[in-house]
Amino acid sequence: MTDLVVRRLLVDMEAPIARHWCDGDAFRTALFNALSMSFPFGEQFFIDSVRNGAKLLPEHQQERFRKEVQGFIGQEATHRRLHSLYNGHLDKLGLVNHWEPRAKKRLDLLAGADPRHCVAITAANEHFTAILADWMLHNAHLFGDSDERLKTLWLWHSAEESEHKCTAFDVYQALGGSHEWRVTWMRRVTVFFLGDVIRQTVNNLYHDGTLFKWSTWKSAASYLFGKRGLVRGNYKAWREYFRPDFHPSQQDSAASVRWLAENSNAFVPVAA
Ligand SMILES: [Fe+2]
Ligand SMILES: [Fe+2]
Repeated sequence: MTDLVVRRLLVDMEAPIARHWCDGDAFRTALFNALSMSFPFGEQFFIDSVRNGAKLLPEHQQERFRKEVQGFIGQEATHRRLHSLYNGHLDKLGLVNHWEPRAKKRLDLLAGADPRHCVAITAANEHFTAILADWMLHNAHLFGDSDERLKTLWLWHSAEESEHKCTAFDVYQALGGSHEWRVTWMRRVTVFFLGDVIRQTVNNLYHDGTLFKWSTWKSAASYLFGKRGLVRGNYKAWREYFRPDFHPSQQDSAASVRWLAENSNAFVPVAA
């Protein structure tokens, strides 16, 4: 069991967000803004799925998961609250969130399905989030230094994603979820996630007026396909999820532990 601490982040999310807050780079800003747009809705779905899944466990198992699930819900609820404030600033910048209504429609199709499907979808998304988080923690320079507040927000969120990466997976296993469905949902989630993140990033760049600039595409090529880029740097970790004996704890979380230890002045632990 993982001991999950809920932390109140000491950042001012009321202050407005600059148009190119991420190191003055239009592409990176648009990409992180797109991810932020998916969180309030997505993380509510993760909370509901894990909470509902845990309720279906036999009583002795429920007791085993009680504290961890509580910590998971507390962490995700804090993330979605801060990202809702963040997204409010993006609305004022003229960006339009198309990801959320699209995902909502898709999830309506799950009404009445076996709750383990929702837990499997959550576990797949959490794997994605955990590898992205580890990549961000290892490449913190990509946030630049022009907005320390948002840099802290992203790294704190990353550290906690890495910290709770086993919860949905373990609930799914405890519910007797099959390997076949686990990897099937990973394949589907991958297609939807990549499609959504690309479409929202392009849309953000369009509204920002930087979609057709050479510098935008140069930055995209380097941060996606460069040596330490998002795609090249994470493919192997993503692929491991398909192994029958995979468990999220097999992947390193040292960067998360280190960030939380070195930045304890950035947050206050609260009860879950
Ligand atoms: Fe989160
Ligand atoms: Fe998460």
